[in-house]
Amino acid sequence: MTAPQNNASMNFEAFFKISYGLYVVSSNNGTKLNGYVSNAVFQVTAEPAQFAVCCSKNNYTAELINGSKAFSISVLKQEASPELIGVFGYQSGKDIDKFKDVEFITGTTGVPILTQDSLAWFECKVIQTVDVGTHFH
Ligand SMILES: Cc1cc2nc3c(=O)[nH]c(=O)nc-3n(C[C@H](O)[C@H](O)[C@H](O)COP(=O)(O)O)c2cc1C
Repeated sequence: MTAPQNNASMNFEAFFKISYGLYVVSSNNGTKLNGYVSNAVFQVTAEPAQFAVCCSKNNYTAELINGSKAFSISVLKQEASPELIGVFGYQSGKDIDKFKDVEFITGTTGVPILTQDSLAWFECKVIQTVDVGTHFH
């Protein structure tokens, strides 16, 4: 193996170029609906069907997921509008109502599921939370 390494165990150049999809992870607390743009969403097991999502502790959505123990994942289209990504990925639901002007449905657990600019969606229940420092998984 001849790829350049920044140190013995990690090639940071490659580390920051790992490919991802683009998703919106959403939840609610009974009154407030919210969601955030995420690239860190993974299918971890097929049977049972399980995802891992990586959510910053600073995200308002983290508070909602910890309370409701449920969330949705919307798979964004490649052509998802920059405005939608701007609202969900660069603003906090602490300050604005992100679901005010977007298309969504409500899941059986009560969570909002963004359908606008989305190819597919999943509704999930939290079965385990791992504290990884800055983020929850
Ligand atoms: C392309 C992109 C990818 C992102 N991926 C993540 C992620 O995987 N996990 C995360 O916690 N935040 C991620 N963010 C940041 C959140 O979307 C952003 O901080 C958001 O405003 C949090 O919203 P909230 O405070 O309303 O929950 C990403 C943002 C962008 C633009």
